[in-house]
Amino acid sequence: MNRRSLLAACLGVALVPAAAYSWVSSAAADDETIEVPLGLPPVFWPDDNPYTAEKAELGKLLFFDKRLSSDNSVACASCHDPSKAFGDGAANSRGIGGQRGGRSAPTVINRAYSTLQFWDGRAPTLEEQAKGPIANPIEMTIDKATDLAHSNVIKRLKGVPGYVARFKKVFGTEDFTLDQATQAIATFERTVLSGNSPWDRYQAGDNKAMTPAQVRGMDVFFKKAACDSCHLGFNFTDGSYENVGIGMDRAQPDLGRYLVSHKEEDKGAFKTPTLREVEHTAPYMHDGSLKTLEEVVEHYDKGGIKNPQLNQRIKPLHLSAGEKKDLVEFLKALSGQGWQQVTPPREFPR
Ligand code: HEC
Ligand code: HEC
Repeated sequence: MNRRSLLAACLGVALVPAAAYSWVSSAAADDETIEVPLGLPPVFWPDDNPYTAEKAELGKLLFFDKRLSSDNSVACASCHDPSKAFGDGAANSRGIGGQRGGRSAPTVINRAYSTLQFWDGRAPTLEEQAKGPIANPIEMTIDKATDLAHSNVIKRLKGVPGYVARFKKVFGTEDFTLDQATQAIATFERTVLSGNSPWDRYQAGDNKAMTPAQVRGMDVFFKKAACDSCHLGFNFTDGSYENVGIGMDRAQPDLGRYLVSHKEEDKGAFKTPTLREVEHTAPYMHDGSLKTLEEVVEHYDKGGIKNPQLNQRIKPLHLSAGEKKDLVEFLKALSGQGWQQVTPPREFPR
């Protein structure tokens, strides 16, 4: 099997036609990797967690398996649903026992290109991030202590011969650990990509790839509105934490990055999210408070929500009605391919 069909086999489906992809590989010739859609750089695989197709397949099973929660009711995919572009379409995600947390579930798409995870960047890697929800009492566990939640999940998985066999194959041991489980999950997540959008094809020289409105909206995005002072580069984010005012008009606002850094200027700052697939990930912002892309554009046009830490680049834009429409159309030109092939596993290890 070549790498392409390996990946296809691992994801259980046919990939988008080859012509849509440019083959890119930074890994040494004998290292396995995956191909990425047009417009994206190669996926970077950590030295201590290299890609293998079997590991990604195991990670996919774990990602979709409700047995990762104490009462078998919630999987990662419950809040990061492939049919909702790996978000959950809700302002607050519903976890174990129907409880709701305070933040909106970001998409898992293109997370391969960031190290820090969560709206406030509190997890240093995808591997570490995955440990969070498993031990979070409003997401996946009824156990009060983190260690207990983690050891209980591993105990449960070790009771499933199908998983024991798969872990043995991937990691060479039946006595697997939480670290190995989250390595597998992170490997799967790094295969969930979005590129080859109308924007990427336009960039690659296909002048017809975007509509005239999208081309006009591109100008508004990069010039008049300077959205790219934060949403920049191939993934439309510089990974910085910024205060654009969301939620700062509440009595007790979520202070975001400040809760991690304890720096005054980080109050109300959240991670600049990717804009790829944004057409499919409503509602928007860390609290899901903006329901449509039109509302997002209005938010920026009026200069955000005033507060002492508001980023200085957020100020009234005075866009015309036409410019606002075009800007929304441009955001839709960032919908691409590389994640639609992921469908829930037909069966789970027994
Ligand atoms: C109950 C819903 C829920 C479940 C279950 C859940 N998540 Fe999340 N996920 C969220 C929310 C909400 C956030 C944002 C939290 C924050 O930033 O504080 C998040 C954040 C993330 C992020 C960071 C994305 C970013 O842009 O920084 C990743 C990656 C992720 N989750 C993967 C997973 C994995 C893997 C699992 C299973 C082990 C999982 N999630 C289970 C709701 C959920
Ligand atoms: C100063 C940096 C900055 C600038 C300039 C900026 N953004 Fe943002 N953007 C952010 C941050 C930070 C968030 C997340 C804020 C939050 O959740 O509190 C965000 C969120 C968004 C979201 C929601 C994405 C999601 O998944 O929820 C969209 C859409 C968006 N911005 C579009 C734009 C557009 C269009 C412009 C130009 C008019 C723009 N941004 C200018 C930093 C910026």
